Amino acid sequence: MANVFFIGATGHIGSAVIESLYSQLPGCTITALVRSEEKGALLKETFPNIKTVVGDLDSADLIEKSAKDASIVINTAPDPTHTAAVDAVKRGLSTRPEKGFYIHTSGAASIWNTPDGSKSTGKIWSDVEHIKDIINLPTASLHVTEDNFVRALGDTMNVAIISPTLVYGLSPSKVHPTPITIPDLIRSMKVVNGGFTISAGKNILGFVHVKDLAQIYVSLAVDAAKGASGSNKELWGQEAYYYAQSEETEFDAFMRALVPVIKQHGAITSDHIQPINVGKALESIGERPDMDLKAWNEHIAMMYGTDMRCRSDRAAKLLNWTPKGPKLTDTLAEVTDVFFKRGIATH
Ligand SMILES: NC(=O)c1ccc[n+]([C@@H]2O[C@H](COP(=O)([O-])OP(=O)(O)OC[C@H]3O[C@@H](n4cnc5c(N)ncnc54)[C@H](OP(=O)(O)O)[C@@H]3O)[C@@H](O)[C@H]2O)c1
Repeated sequence: MANVFFIGATGHIGSAVIESLYSQLPGCTITALVRSEEKGALLKETFPNIKTVVGDLDSADLIEKSAKDASIVINTAPDPTHTAAVDAVKRGLSTRPEKGFYIHTSGAASIWNTPDGSKSTGKIWSDVEHIKDIINLPTASLHVTEDNFVRALGDTMNVAIISPTLVYGLSPSKVHPTPITIPDLIRSMKVVNGGFTISAGKNILGFVHVKDLAQIYVSLAVDAAKGASGSNKELWGQEAYYYAQSEETEFDAFMRALVPVIKQHGAITSDHIQPINVGKALESIGERPDMDLKAWNEHIAMMYGTDMRCRSDRAAKLLNWTPKGPKLTDTLAEVTDVFFKRGIATH
């Protein structure tokens, strides 16, 4: 039976993947890298059978050893500057007699354009039709350096890269039950005391429900569990890049749905939606109590005004992936209820 080593297990995406792994790969063993004993205990409350090891993405020896004991490694932790962790995974997996499997998390921010907001460019990226262009995206684009690093390790392990659009919905995670974008959106809305868009908010963003996203990881893991000789070669390797997108919406339509929900919680008192520019958006995000990352704030301010349009053609064609989750707007009330009830600044 499959031995999985999981990085990012306590995360919004990670816990949704683990929940589906246990139901679709019964009998699999999962060992999770957690950043503290406390977070490991929270993870075990949800998944009593999970094993944990304490460390972080800089714990190269621990990651190498844990990967060595596994046949499948799934990584849903942030990718920037953590290629050393991926290299440690490779060292661990490459000691196995059969090629192991590595499922990496990237992000569709690699196709963001100038955050204009006045219109959408209309370009929709397909992970089948445009795969050569995706592989050759400029390294200045987000995630591309890390994606290239992962692909370059394809000789020693079976690799697949999953590239989510904006993730929405509730996750079974006790540490991060709500989406990573929620705290910044709410903080920005509080600053303008209402809704906001960059320019007219006509930029179009892709979204994916966290449980639909999880299904892509799990379908790949189910194939990986057949072992290198039994798995479907088409699913892995240089072109194994999977966008995860189940719906798209203009930013102003998203904001129109979000404003009444946030107003109901008393975090804003006006339902006016005002156009702002990226500079003002950056100011509105301010300092997160749990993070002090200038680059992250810039990332979020750009996200408000960019296009992110792509199709999950590869998952649909090769994994028979059909999103089944609720629509984005139908999840906003339950997500914000959980966020405000927790009463903390993080997701
Ligand atoms: N969510 C989205 O909309 C989206 C879209 C595109 C791409 N992505 C990519 O997917 C990643 C995961 O998203 P998410 O929503 O699941 O984020 P999340 O809820 O913040 O989860 C991140 C996970 O990674 C762990 N982690 C963070 N830094 C770490 C470190 N230095 N060492 C070890 N573990 C570390 C966290 O552990 P703790 O519990 O200890 O914090 C948590 O388990 C993002 O960071 C991004 O790269 C996300």
